[in-house]
Amino acid sequence: MHRILAPLAAAGLIVTAGCSGGGDEGPPSSDGDSEETATVEEAEETPAADSTDTMDGTVFAEFTGDAAAGETVFSQCRACHVVDPGVNRTGPTLHNIVGAEAGQIDGFNYTDANANSGIVWTPEKLFQYLERPQRIIPGTRMAFAGLSDPQDRADLIAYLEANSE
Ligand code: HEC
Repeated sequence: MHRILAPLAAAGLIVTAGCSGGGDEGPPSSDGDSEETATVEEAEETPAADSTDTMDGTVFAEFTGDAAAGETVFSQCRACHVVDPGVNRTGPTLHNIVGAEAGQIDGFNYTDANANSGIVWTPEKLFQYLERPQRIIPGTRMAFAGLSDPQDRADLIAYLEANSE
């Protein structure tokens, strides 16, 4: 028991010591901490605009999308999006979104993050984006965690394609 807890206690002491530095207590005792602090932050890199790598390793082409099932999945988007042409709500219309350049729906006020992402909404890119939108467009205003089930994503994309022309 003590053997397992001891390192945790030690780690706690190190953290506490690190936090008490600076302020009016005198000069920092060493520079050794800065490097350690930097590694604590996990810098998750944004995939390039033309990257379609998913977190779960799935590939769009491995799935057959079912538009009818996708309509049900779309109920998770409907609070903010519709597929009617020209109808923007909290989010832009998703009519004709498949194949479109990001940030180009007329009359919708995008964040710079979305507008300047350089993304083209191919099915493969949507498949990646919908897994975790914030990973693909950090700073997006779209408050949606993502769809972890790749079949749901493929079905939804089939539905969106059926609502494009
Ligand atoms: C809580 C509201 C909300 C939900 C839920 C939501 N979105 Fe969005 N979505 C937005 C907003 C707002 C934007 C614009 C983001 C920006 O400008 O930063 C957006 C942007 C998008 C874009 C980029 C559009 C473009 O023209 O570049 C796509 C694609 C998209 N959403 C698809 C979906 C899909 C599919 C779902 C359901 C799985 C969904 N969204 C759920 C609010 C939402």
